[in-house]
Amino acid sequence: MAEPANGMQAAADPQQAPAGVSLDIRGLNAFYGPVQALFDVSLQLRAGEFVVLQGLNGAGKSTLLKALMGLEVRTEGSLAYQTATGPQDLAPWDTWRRARAGLGYVAEDRRLFTGLTVRENLRVAAGGGAASQEARVLDLFPVLKTMLGRPASQMSGGEQQMLAIARTLMTGPRLLLLDEPCEGIAPVLVEAIRDALLVLQADGMPMLVAEQNQLLAASADRLVLLVAGKVRGS
Ligand SMILES: Nc1ncnc2c1ncn2[C@@H]1O[C@H](COP(=O)(O)OP(=O)(O)O)[C@@H](O)[C@H]1O
Ligand SMILES: [Mg+2]
Repeated sequence: MAEPANGMQAAADPQQAPAGVSLDIRGLNAFYGPVQALFDVSLQLRAGEFVVLQGLNGAGKSTLLKALMGLEVRTEGSLAYQTATGPQDLAPWDTWRRARAGLGYVAEDRRLFTGLTVRENLRVAAGGGAASQEARVLDLFPVLKTMLGRPASQMSGGEQQMLAIARTLMTGPRLLLLDEPCEGIAPVLVEAIRDALLVLQADGMPMLVAEQNQLLAASADRLVLLVAGKVRGS
């Protein structure tokens, strides 16, 4: 298990260091209308921890990430989000407020602007300016540097996935929620994504990543298995 990273990299760039950010999920139930999809899920995402969420199709991985973002499902339970300013329960908060508080989310379908170029996708996310942020994000994903002028529609699935993560990073998140970033993409790009996530982790970024890919799972601090909407082992 990795210790929270409060080392050299974080100290060198305090603006980027989400020091001490963590999330404590307690007794989370989630419902699509009358249908319950998560049952009493409790899970801690500690500062700087990289947790991979595993489980068969339909186990509830996407539902858990949506519940954390306040999307689509009705929920019960508490979501204690700890930052330097103290703990807050996110559960009553709208999605936009959770995002503004630092929750960064990449949905399974990526939701890129396919008609826009790589650079335009990044700049739309940042809302203008933020050249240093863009340089830093591109350093994490060197492949994107070689295709800044390419429309997203002309990228491979793996390249699009990198762009989706990069775009979310442009918003300056303090905690990352990724839904199957490696699903159906080439092994060399899985490695590139894994490497980028490990750099973020070294900077202290807590990450909860739904993923079946074994290469990514092998790099996690901890695996959490969902079975039919319940946590099995951790
Ligand atoms: N929009 C929805 N409406 C109703 N049920 C849904 C919806 N999305 C997912 N579900 C159900 O919730 C359960 C968990 O699905 P999901 O979270 O997508 O699993 P996973 O991401 O692990 O494949 C499944 O039984 C699925 O059928
Ligand atoms: Mg899913």
